[in-house]
Amino acid sequence: MKKLYFLLLISAFSLTVFAQSDENMGIIPVPASIKKNSGQFVLDKTVVLVSAEATNAKNADLLNAFIVSKGGFALRTEKALTKGQKAIVLTAVGADDLPAEGYSINISTNEIKVVGKDAGLFYAIQSLMQLMPEKKNDKITIQAATIKDYPRFGYRGLHLDVARHFYTSSFVKKYIDRMAAYKLNTFHWHLTDDQGWRIEIKKYPKLTTIGASRNGTIVGNYPGTGGTDEVPYKGHYTQEEIKEVVAYAASKYITVVPEIEMPGHASAAIAAYPELSCFPERDTWVGENAPWSGTRKGKQVQQTWGVFDDVFVPSENTFKFLEGVLDEVITLFPSKYIHIGGDECPKAYWKESAFCQQLIKELNLKDEHGLQSYFIQRMEKYLNAKGKSIIGWDEILEGGLAPNATVMSWRGVDGGIEAAKLNHDVIMTPGSMGLYFDHKSSASPDEPLTISGLQSGFSNYTKVYNYDPVPSVLPAEQKKFVRGVQGNVWTEYIESAEKVEYMILPKMLALSEIAWGQLDRKNLTNFTEERLPLHLAKLDGAGTNYWVPTPIGQAAGILNGKEHTISLKTPVAGAKIYYTLDNYRPTETGALYTAPFKVNVPEGKKKILKTVVITPTGKRSVVLETVLNNGATDVKTK
Ligand code: ACM
Repeated sequence: MKKLYFLLLISAFSLTVFAQSDENMGIIPVPASIKKNSGQFVLDKTVVLVSAEATNAKNADLLNAFIVSKGGFALRTEKALTKGQKAIVLTAVGADDLPAEGYSINISTNEIKVVGKDAGLFYAIQSLMQLMPEKKNDKITIQAATIKDYPRFGYRGLHLDVARHFYTSSFVKKYIDRMAAYKLNTFHWHLTDDQGWRIEIKKYPKLTTIGASRNGTIVGNYPGTGGTDEVPYKGHYTQEEIKEVVAYAASKYITVVPEIEMPGHASAAIAAYPELSCFPERDTWVGENAPWSGTRKGKQVQQTWGVFDDVFVPSENTFKFLEGVLDEVITLFPSKYIHIGGDECPKAYWKESAFCQQLIKELNLKDEHGLQSYFIQRMEKYLNAKGKSIIGWDEILEGGLAPNATVMSWRGVDGGIEAAKLNHDVIMTPGSMGLYFDHKSSASPDEPLTISGLQSGFSNYTKVYNYDPVPSVLPAEQKKFVRGVQGNVWTEYIESAEKVEYMILPKMLALSEIAWGQLDRKNLTNFTEERLPLHLAKLDGAGTNYWVPTPIGQAAGILNGKEHTISLKTPVAGAKIYYTLDNYRPTETGALYTAPFKVNVPEGKKKILKTVVITPTGKRSVVLETVLNNGATDVKTK
């Protein structure tokens, strides 16, 4: 018990040291400006929480609940400040002069004054909470400072695919909690795909009685060799659950943008209602190159990944169906935007279908791309008439962009550039820049099963951090069409909620920094060495899984020379670095890194430094190897 107490003290101490030395006081995303002042505000039970406006009451309660959790005491609340009283003052007075979603915090020895309203005040409180130490204490000391803050982008998104794998609404709420803590404001909920339809639609019950279940799931990487597991898999959200999630998100200033995929990725809907296919009688094609390649009887919810030819037929019946679906979707989601997918729609069935070919002629379209454009434009018109706007993946540029559409650029940045040049709004989500969070963080064999990634397909937090969503090639007047940035979380290979967390963290924190933080405040070293270790330590203690970064200061690969100085820093406050130089995998039985040391390598030899980071709750990094080479002949230099 004593030992545990000591360990807790040590980790609380190391968190404090990190925060106090940091010019940004540990805040993620980095504030637009922060200036430390002399002195400290000591928060104890004598402090009064002053909140005059009714609109601020919810945010005042949020702060007070947090103080109860950290200090074990609640603050007395007042409507007005008594002169001389030590107080935290929340006020909307002056908030109208701030940029959208902006706030200011002024911490002096006698007062913390927070100016903001609605989302701005909520974000101020997120920052303030980050300034409070982790350990429970009846006196919470906060460094005096002046903070002024507002976001770079109005759209700060994180996506979740719940079709390939399904996650409970309680996990979705936890996901939303994390987003809100880091000032992300848009949750893109990918609700339908080939492998499952996950939203109850009352007019079309078979979408969930049939479309939400599949008979198995591919084992290993696509196309794989292991077949499917033949274990039935199902899940969907009732409309009540959806409403609850949407309201929960709204309470944290997060808009939920639903995605209903069309015209491709429609296998689950077609399994439920085969008449939505060009060829209702045709058996389901289950994929190229797979050992089981070929067809399965009837229309099936897909069990393997990839892209499938059986897409929505652009018939009046299909449009009526989709309008019926969207009518219910728009009553559930107050979001201005509805995402209609539009990606990866093969044209093979449309080419083969006499109906589609006749339609192309009748509509005087050029080809099947024209037909896709017609499809999207019709849906846009329908939604625009209901006061909604569409977002689509960048394929909606092909064959002619719908007049008011926002484009989500995922196949690199070119789609975003093209759309911005057409004066259309753009959200940047390029996989090539690290924004596909389902891609693995490193090449280590210790990484779990993921979508197989080439080097360019890696996604780690430094790559995300280094990305600037505004393409430099855009002329100044078109840069403004880049409304924001988003991380995407496709879940073919993410079977559990814990693995979702492993894949998105700490990338999500880097995303928050590029989505919210001003460009001139970007500083990867400060982020990695000062602030991230603190946040990862907090997540460690909060029951959240994450990818543990490898030691700061260790380069992967080969270092040439006779004498090497090994100087490392822990990437998680309170975590330990263990290493070996004897070719064994490091664990707690390795040497504990405590201070820089020298390694001498004899002429013609090499030594391999292998490290592992182990956090206070036992999470581990991948093992990182550095070859210390002094002319060994078996070392390949690249
Ligand atoms: C996508 O990754 N198919 C948008």
